[in-house]
Amino acid sequence: MERCFADRRSVYDCSIMHLPKVHNRAGNITALENGTSIPFDVRRVYYLYDVPGGEERGGHAHFELQQFVVAVSGAFDVLLDDGVNKKVVHLDRPFIGLHITTGIWRELLNFSSGSVCLVLASHRYDESDYIRDYDNFKKLCNGQDSPFIGGQV
Ligand code: TYD
Repeated sequence: MERCFADRRSVYDCSIMHLPKVHNRAGNITALENGTSIPFDVRRVYYLYDVPGGEERGGHAHFELQQFVVAVSGAFDVLLDDGVNKKVVHLDRPFIGLHITTGIWRELLNFSSGSVCLVLASHRYDESDYIRDYDNFKKLCNGQDSPFIGGQV
């Protein structure tokens, strides 16, 4: 049987979260912890940097993986696509995070010079969890019940 998404979600389930900020005259600290700021248990952290101007990252979806994305420096856009609805989120603050749920196609684009994209992930790296072909992603979406077809819920 063909594999399906662990949890079928819409782009409207991908939420922007304001993160705690500890401020003093010497600057700011934002701390992220499982169970409080992050809506899943973090098993992996990675970051994207030195992205050349005009380059795009992402261009895939995941069967299981959830991610939490923060522009810790600079800015970029995240295009979210659930196979029906699309949404673009602009991230440009280190105290704002974007939770990307399972089964969402994402593309990261319009990176500002020197930007750093921090990603917290719910699973270790596993290539078999990736859907890298958009037509295949659409087929998987069409084959799985979708509670949100027809727009925002
Ligand atoms: P990929 O997830 O396709 O990057 P992006 O979505 O940012 O464009 O990964 C690019 C390469 O990096 C791929 O060969 C696998 C490797 N990689 C790891 O080894 N570990 C990781 O945690 C990640 C995210 C990628």
